[in-house]
Amino acid sequence: QFPLPIPPVKSPKMTITNPVTNNPIDYYEITINEFYQTVYPTKAPARLVGYDGMSPGPTFIIPRGRETVVRFINNATLENSVHLHGSYSRAPWDGWAEDVTFPGEFKDYYYPNQQAARTLWYHDHAFGKTAENAYYGQAGAYLIHDPAEDSLGLPSGYGVHDIPLILSAKQYINNGSLKTTNGETTSLYGDVIHVNGQPWPYFNVEPRKYRLRFLDASVSRTFRLYFQRQSGSSAKIPFKVIATDGGLMTSAVTTDNLYISMAERYEVVFDFSPFAGQNITLRNYEDVGQDDDYLHTDKVMRFVVSGTPVTDTSVVPTPLAVVDFPVATSTAVDRHFEFDRGNGEWQINGVVFADVNNRVLANVPRGKVEIWELENGGGGWSHPIHVHLVDFKVISRSNPDDGRSLYAYETQGLKDVVWLAPGETVKVQAHYAPWDGVYMFHCHNLIHEDHDMMAAFNVTALPD
Ligand code: C2O
Ligand code: CU
Repeated sequence: QFPLPIPPVKSPKMTITNPVTNNPIDYYEITINEFYQTVYPTKAPARLVGYDGMSPGPTFIIPRGRETVVRFINNATLENSVHLHGSYSRAPWDGWAEDVTFPGEFKDYYYPNQQAARTLWYHDHAFGKTAENAYYGQAGAYLIHDPAEDSLGLPSGYGVHDIPLILSAKQYINNGSLKTTNGETTSLYGDVIHVNGQPWPYFNVEPRKYRLRFLDASVSRTFRLYFQRQSGSSAKIPFKVIATDGGLMTSAVTTDNLYISMAERYEVVFDFSPFAGQNITLRNYEDVGQDDDYLHTDKVMRFVVSGTPVTDTSVVPTPLAVVDFPVATSTAVDRHFEFDRGNGEWQINGVVFADVNNRVLANVPRGKVEIWELENGGGGWSHPIHVHLVDFKVISRSNPDDGRSLYAYETQGLKDVVWLAPGETVKVQAHYAPWDGVYMFHCHNLIHEDHDMMAAFNVTALPD
């Protein structure tokens, strides 16, 4: 067992001036390149391709309101397109799947960073290549902080008491290299669970509260997480969920388990103080969705709690934040989208992204609040659905198979991905703003996304 790696913090190369507003802009450069990393000490190193030659990529920590430009330089062998997931980027910098940068080229992306403090992530979005690029390492954390949040007294300090936990599940072949995603047409669940790029790591903690920022960066695996003592009572230990994709929730929700599907972010405060001198295992349920289970996919990582007491002044206040929920104008469903398999492809209302003449499935007047009904067409697959540009409120969830309804922790905050378990229909409500433009929405199972469960909506000043 190896320790949990903490991705290093990325520093700007220089500060430039916004020619329009005169505001300072921090300018960064990231190179996408191939590298080799030993995953199994007894095997050859695995070939990976990552941001600044690491996986996950370096972490951006940005004060809210500070604009950034990031130059992504492609020194790899495949084309790329970068999406800052959770940012309301203008369309030209949103990582449109066909707006690819070829090997030897670069592209500068501009990010406004004006949204509420939150955990975002940047990852590849190249058409038909997203699964492979993200799986080989093109994913990293991007955190927006604001003074209001920093003054709440939550556990803090990046890598100290505020810890990114980027989950992924991969599969290796005998010589130690990754089993490629090429040729996969349904899912790649992966039998090796990684946290921050390290299989089943451990992390030394003090007996106090920690803020844990979970992101599921897997190709196809959904987790249902819980904490348990390694020995003694096998009871699930309760913890507080404090934030969703869109940042802090109105109030913390206490639970003893948490679903997290691809691209979702949930932040948790876990109190290790009752467990001084013990080990706590972070585990995963079996039979989540219809994901395949393997020998050790029920384990994620271990926290080794020191026996030395410490003073902990951090708190989880109530309430946590004022969340900017969309204001409903009507309860009627504006759009219905069905996520299905047909003609050997993954489709949305029968359309695939390659169908350029039909892939714009909605024209949404800018500023309108709409309710979208997202239906999992069945077949036993789950589909985590991501809508670009907006944050939405999950307003209902219905599953005729098992009667499941909304999870308490998904009602208290804003989301940009919602998990449709097999058979589920979910309604989400969003304010389509602040910009006009053509944006993607899609399944975030990267195999489904690449083959071709992705479409677009056009935010426009014109009537629908
Ligand atoms: Cu995280 Cu369109 O993606
Ligand atoms: Cu899917």
